[in-house]
Order: sequence, then structure tokens, then C-alpha cells
Amino acid sequence: MSEYQFTKDWFNWAPEVWKQLIPHLPGRQRFLEIGSFEGRSAVWIIENMMEDGGYIDCIDTWQGGEEHSEEDMAAVEARFDHNLELASDRSGTFDGDVARHYFKLKGPSAKILAGIMSEGEDSVDFVGGDIRATKPKYDFIYIDGSHIAKDVLTDACMAWPLLKPKGMMVFDDYMWGNPRDILHRPKPAIDAFCNLFAEEAEIVHVGYQLVVRKKGE
Ligand SMILES: C[S@@+](CC[C@H](N)C(=O)[O-])C[C@H]1O[C@@H](n2cnc3c(N)ncnc32)[C@H](O)[C@@H]1O
Repeated sequence: MSEYQFTKDWFNWAPEVWKQLIPHLPGRQRFLEIGSFEGRSAVWIIENMMEDGGYIDCIDTWQGGEEHSEEDMAAVEARFDHNLELASDRSGTFDGDVARHYFKLKGPSAKILAGIMSEGEDSVDFVGGDIRATKPKYDFIYIDGSHIAKDVLTDACMAWPLLKPKGMMVFDDYMWGNPRDILHRPKPAIDAFCNLFAEEAEIVHVGYQLVVRKKGE
């Protein structure tokens, strides 16, 4: 029997917090992840958060960030493909067919998010040629792509309009990085986002990750 192939664990701090978020999500069918790597967090979402008929959009360049210079990213991408296919297969059937639980969106996050926002979704290059009919409004968004502050702020600002009211957006690595390299870690971007979006975003958890909920009905 096939098994998951993971070589890194940058996720073990998340499940304890995420399990507490699940009952408060507006839905459990529409997920977005910026930064997928080998798919560890995406697999966890499929197995633990997603209801039947749901899917996760996984955005990654599969070229690595500045902290991944030692990685063979082609091998990382191959493990992502394997792991997500396996998670999809294990997660049962929908309407008599094997459900598609993930979409792989390969490219820089700002480019992919611009495609999703501007709809034509046809302009988004879904690997495998899939084109969805409806504009996504996500229940849950995970920001874990580039760790450069200006990129994190860009990801957050572009993803925010795609989040449903009462939806949750999670930032990884709020506490990560060398304090001297202030522009090369997520924290200043997350702080800036929380300050600038304070009328719309309520902070619901602060730890190694930071979680905001979108206000409104
Ligand atoms: C920390 S890893 C993600 C880890 C993953 N969420 C997990 O739980 O294992 C960050 C990922 O972000 C990707 N990345 C870095 N900069 C990016 C960008 N500008 N656009 C899209 N993906 C990017 C890298 O290729 C890398 O795979």
C-alpha cells in the first residue's frame, strides 16, 4: 500500500490550534493554501478539515523560497503530486466518482491570485486542464509561501477579498526568523496587515502562527 512521502515537518505546531478553528468556520469545502511544498499541510486539511465535495487550491512555484536553497525542488514537487493524489484517493467518493480534492496552481502567488481575482478563472493554469465554473470564496486560507515581508503582505492583501465573512486566514511563522533580517521574515508584514485591516479582521489566535477571522455576516 502506498504511503505519504514527507521529508520535512513544518506543520506539527498547527493541528492543535486548527482543530479549535474548525467548528467556527463558515464552511468546510473551500480552502486556499499559498505555499504547499510537499503537501503536508494540504494533506492534513483534506483529512481533517474538509467535508465531502470540498477542495483545496494549492499555490506554489515549486522553486523554493530563499530559505530552501539546498532543496531539490523537482523532487519536492514530485512528492507533492504523490501525496495529494494519495490524500484525494483516500478521501472517498463524491456523486459516484472519485472526488477531486485539490487543484495544483503552479506559479508565483501574486500572479495566480491575480488570475483568481480577475475571473476568467480560465486564465488560471490549473495543472491537468481543469476549469471550474464558479468564483471561489474560501472558508479558510493558509499563508505559508514566500517569507519575505513584502511578499507576505502582498499574499495577505490579495487573498483577503477571496475569504468569506467569518472565514479564517492563518499566517505561519509569525515568530520565525532572525530579528536582524526584519524585511526577510513574515512578522512585520503580518503586523502591518492586522493594523491596516483592523476594521475587517479580528485576531483570534497569536502564537507561532497568527490567525485572523473576517468580520461580518
Ligand atoms: C514553508 S514551505 C510550505 C510548507 C507547507 N505549507 C507545509 O506544511 O509543508 C514554503 C513554500 O512556498 C513556496 N514559495 C515561495 N515563494 C513563493 C511565491 N512567491 N509564490 C508561490 N510559492 C512560493 C516555496 O516553493 C515553498 O514550497
